Amino acid sequence: MANLSTVTSSPESWNETQADLIAVGVFEDKSLTPMANTINEASNFAFTEAIDLGDVKGKSGESHFFYVDGKRILLLGLGNKNKFDANAVRLAAGKVSRTAISKKLDSVAMECFCNNCEHCQSCGEGLVLGSYQFLDYKTGRDDGFVLKSAKVLRCDSPDIAKGAAIGNAVCFARDLGNHPGNISTPTRLAEAAKEIADEGGMKLTIFDREEFTEMGMGALAGVALGTDEPPKFIILEYMNGGDEKPKVLVGKGLTFDAGGISIKPAGKMDEMKYDMCGSATVLGTMKAIAALKPKINVVCIVPSTENLLGGKAFKPGDILTALNGKTIEILNTDAEGRLILADGLSYASKHYDPEFILDFATLTGAVLVTLGHVAAGVMGTDESLMEKVKISSKNSGEKVWELPLWPEFCKQIKSDIADVKNMGTPGQAGSIAAAAFLKEFVKKDIPWIHFDIAGTAWGGKTTSLDPKGSATGWGIRLVLDMFDV
Ligand code: BES
Ligand code: MN
Ligand code: ZN
Repeated sequence: MANLSTVTSSPESWNETQADLIAVGVFEDKSLTPMANTINEASNFAFTEAIDLGDVKGKSGESHFFYVDGKRILLLGLGNKNKFDANAVRLAAGKVSRTAISKKLDSVAMECFCNNCEHCQSCGEGLVLGSYQFLDYKTGRDDGFVLKSAKVLRCDSPDIAKGAAIGNAVCFARDLGNHPGNISTPTRLAEAAKEIADEGGMKLTIFDREEFTEMGMGALAGVALGTDEPPKFIILEYMNGGDEKPKVLVGKGLTFDAGGISIKPAGKMDEMKYDMCGSATVLGTMKAIAALKPKINVVCIVPSTENLLGGKAFKPGDILTALNGKTIEILNTDAEGRLILADGLSYASKHYDPEFILDFATLTGAVLVTLGHVAAGVMGTDESLMEKVKISSKNSGEKVWELPLWPEFCKQIKSDIADVKNMGTPGQAGSIAAAAFLKEFVKKDIPWIHFDIAGTAWGGKTTSLDPKGSATGWGIRLVLDMFDV
């Protein structure tokens, strides 16, 4: 792991701090943040001159170095003052960490950019997220420079440490995603769950192949037939909310998806190590909960296996029976995520009385066609829950777009010889067909929303918060917002 795990806050002023880099800000209207103003005056108006010469424009993403009284100052462009929200604060904070890493500076201090301390949490999140690098397999001495410490000046809000804890949980999820399939195995996911359980006082239950097969999870067992890597069904229970109904999270933990007998093309198949990013989202959420210990009840369920080919593998035409008793005709072994989720959702419906269920899965290539890397596709059965998802999406900046789960689509996954088939009409509304399939495994009266994160879990635009070629840890901040953590 190469990221800051904590951020401190300090009453120090800019000329007292020992940090190697001190970040202050300027808006597009050329107005300076309070600490920038002070430094400007101390420097005989160095910032004003740079603004007057047209070098400093205050655009978001822009940054300039100044040297004042022996201190290294980074003047960050903060963009439009009227649009300066939590997302802008987070991006600016990320830029501080990224800049320090690129200049090989050990420590940073930033002015708290929030006005009235509304966005202190974003400062903590941004500093940590911007410090993330995946260096575990770089063995050369000069390959990696790691940021050592960060503090926020002119602020003593506990939200800074909270933001850092959340950022740390997102980095934890990124690591799970970035490690290759031979390391991030179902066994490794179970170990990660154990670490979280120990930290957060949670109950951990793990069923192995024999156990979940015996219990009737025929869909997960079917997918797992083709691999010798031991599959796991992982359950974390965090009960700190008295007798309230638990919120249930289910995440797809497919640690490598070759497609099975319906094998995928070779190009980009390596990216299918990321097919467990749904599980990284739910485990990352539990990691943040373990650190922050909110008064809520949350259950996290991760069905986990590889999807490979071999003499024992399941085949097109096979019929599997899920935990809820429904039979599934397999038309394509590459539509395996919905199969393992079928047992996850059935288990959640059978063993708990959930307030609601949210599932996260890199489920369809089709969602990438629909929404690119910009937004996750969301579909579900409960309008007011969907409204909450959309509000938390706005608050967190993690974009979602609702696709319609209309009856016309739900009919498409009916099978002639079994209850359902594992794909809809080829080439049509693939993401919705997948959600329509999942709906069959959620008990009728339980509000449920499915997040298809195949576009947002990796591969998007590189920003100060999301490094190139890395899993994103998408969705954790959205869920924590929904849970009022
Ligand atoms: N893990 C894939 C979905 C995926 C594909 C995510 C590409 C990200 C990038 C999933 O298991 C899958 O293979 N889905 C199939 C379903 C189809 C066979 C009905 C797909 O989307 O092609
Ligand atoms: Mn697949
Ligand atoms: Zn898959």
